Amino acid sequence: MKIDVIALFPEIIIPALRVSILKRAQDAGFLTVNVHNLRDFATDRHQSVDDYPYGGGAGMILKPEPLFAAIRALSPESNTRVIYLTPQGKPCTQQLAEALSLESHIILICGRYKGIDERVRQRLVTDEISIGDYVLSGGEIPALVLIDTIGRVLPGVLGDYESAQDDSFSQQLLDHPHYTRPADFEGMNVPEVLLSGHHEKITRWKYEESLRRTAVRRPDLLKEIELTEEDTNFLREPNASEGI
Ligand SMILES: C[S@@+](CC[C@H](N)C(=O)[O-])C[C@H]1O[C@@H](n2cnc3c(N)ncnc32)[C@H](O)[C@@H]1O
Repeated sequence: MKIDVIALFPEIIIPALRVSILKRAQDAGFLTVNVHNLRDFATDRHQSVDDYPYGGGAGMILKPEPLFAAIRALSPESNTRVIYLTPQGKPCTQQLAEALSLESHIILICGRYKGIDERVRQRLVTDEISIGDYVLSGGEIPALVLIDTIGRVLPGVLGDYESAQDDSFSQQLLDHPHYTRPADFEGMNVPEVLLSGHHEKITRWKYEESLRRTAVRRPDLLKEIELTEEDTNFLREPNASEGI
């Protein structure tokens, strides 16, 4: 998969691409990320990329010419998703990232200042994505969030030992609690069942812990899945939300 990013501050994004899972995904050829500096597509001799807003008001707007030039230079196909990161966009979810991971090429546009000229959205942007209901000073960190989320679900990127399958949201449930050695730390003991070696019981314990954690912290997620009678009875137990 290829991701092209258009940003005014590539230096925010590039270092994060050089470590850990994203680095491995690129080294192994699963992912190619190119970060382009918007200023390189400026059309005037001052290399200006922003201008005052028509109608007045505070803040600058990213001009249409450099953005149009940058996007066109990346030769989007008719099905290339051109994504503008914006707080006004559709929320970034695990499902959305998984759907995007099936694309062969996406282009990410990072805004700055008050945002981008509306005509870029009208003509070239196919999707608008938000990473949450808050406003950051630029789209570079949101782009990185999206790249990381997509990168780790690309087939082959995560090995079995760090599989994303049981992670929160993959089955519409939050992840279960995790423990490592020692079994007794300052009097806090690892649940007996995890030491039992009984695989079936361990699997059921993990599922129930996911279920009850989701019921307490994110009951909205449970509305999306069909619970069995056993699940419903488990959640009705008086101590089901204990210790969450
Ligand atoms: C200061 S913000 C502009 C916010 C814009 N005036 C608005 O209220 O919708 C500058 C840039 O940061 C990025 N940005 C800020 N918050 C974001 C969020 N929650 N999700 C995605 N991108 C965001 C966008 O690219 C935006 O163009």
